[in-house]
Amino acid sequence: MEYTFLKTALTDGICTLTLSAPKSLNALNSALLNELGHFLDNIDPNVRVLIITGDGDKSFVAGADIAEMSTLNEQQGYEFGKRGADVFRKIEKLPIPVIAAVNGYALGGGCEIAMACDIRICSANARFGQPEVGLGIIPGFSGTYRLTKLVGMGMAKQLIYSGKPIKSDEALRIGLVNAVYEQEELMSQAMKLAKTISANAPIALKYAKECIEAEYDLPADEAIAYENHMFGKCFATEDQKNGMHAFLNKEEVKFEGR
Ligand code: CAA
Repeated sequence: MEYTFLKTALTDGICTLTLSAPKSLNALNSALLNELGHFLDNIDPNVRVLIITGDGDKSFVAGADIAEMSTLNEQQGYEFGKRGADVFRKIEKLPIPVIAAVNGYALGGGCEIAMACDIRICSANARFGQPEVGLGIIPGFSGTYRLTKLVGMGMAKQLIYSGKPIKSDEALRIGLVNAVYEQEELMSQAMKLAKTISANAPIALKYAKECIEAEYDLPADEAIAYENHMFGKCFATEDQKNGMHAFLNKEEVKFEGR
């Protein structure tokens, strides 16, 4: 599939995906969401870490496309929300870590796509917010769910009810992002983190992601049993044998993901 709204670059197993709709500050329209869904369904198996960012130096994603949403009826609104939510869920279900490099506005659907990623870092000029109630709607790409998980109910309610964006330092303070960098450093820092992650065992990373995602909503005993099970499965991999052999023999290891 030829992409109009996505740009991709692959280096050493790290894929940078740039969301690109510059005329609308990278707002998420249906065509972009379809392309994103296609990209995630067909991701190159050699990719070990995915970085998602936005085109330009002003905006990561300024939300769902308001022009497109403005004429929707109830059923179409439901379908539009579900389309975005389903695509974002694919990010969480990818078997590899995903880093959001938030390079400016992350509003509405922009904040929501960042929250579907495993790790968020941002530039100093980033602004995060869920301004939907000011448009007569609620966050519709799973923001009410994920923001509450990430920052707790009190802060999520304040952000969603007020609709007011917050600056990068406040996003850092409340745990919505892990680090803030100057704009010109953001992508090199994202790449540095991606390289650190991608040097580790791919199957172990996949299992770790699966555990964290699956266990979050489980009762403690079930969550711990799930981890026990996945821990055992690691010992059926060559990566485990090679990783431990290398440690014990003071050698470097290159994981093959087997
Ligand atoms: N949808 C469609 N177009 C958008 C857009 C969006 N979400 N955000 C910006 N644009 C367009 C503007 O309409 C404008 O287009 P024109 O040049 O044709 O007029 C262009 O992008 C540049 O935007 P501005 O002139 O507004 O730029 P600014 O620097 O003055 O302001 C901004 C930047 C604060 C991000 C402002 O554009 C803004 O508030 N955008 C909307 C943010 C928003 O409300 N997002 C939530 C959308 S709802 C949602 O996401 C629902 C959901 O959960 C699924």
